[in-house]
Amino acid sequence: GAPVEVDISKLEPGQMMTVEWRGKPVWIINRTKDMLDTLPKLADAVADPKSEKEQQPAYCQNETRSIKPEVLVAVGICTHLGCSPSAKFKHGAEEGMSGDWLGGFLCPCHGSTFDFAGRVYKAKPAPTNLEVPPHMYLSDTRILIG
Ligand code: FES
Repeated sequence: GAPVEVDISKLEPGQMMTVEWRGKPVWIINRTKDMLDTLPKLADAVADPKSEKEQQPAYCQNETRSIKPEVLVAVGICTHLGCSPSAKFKHGAEEGMSGDWLGGFLCPCHGSTFDFAGRVYKAKPAPTNLEVPPHMYLSDTRILIG
């Protein structure tokens, strides 16, 4: 499939957009400081905090799993059996989430949860973090995926 060029200039902090790449949904999320602040707190709660256990681009083998700290680019397909997780961005109790939930994504099929970096929580059915597709910045606000 051809690479996809995406303009993220209108993506406000706290918003996400979805683009299609090779028939897959790719999420782009402009994470707020509050969202980013949750990541260090979850180092012990997630299975693979720095994405070291899987084949991923080197630029996502860090805590934010991203090139720019605030911008997450990830394939929105659960690494368990391929369902589409939904965004659960609110902190605290939310439908189906516990009171200590810090926000992220919930897969409706078998309950895998992912944080704001797409890192899977421990003891969930999904075996790995959400995939970060190959991508690069063409400018501050243009990303090339693929
Ligand atoms: Fe997501 Fe099973 S497909 S938890």
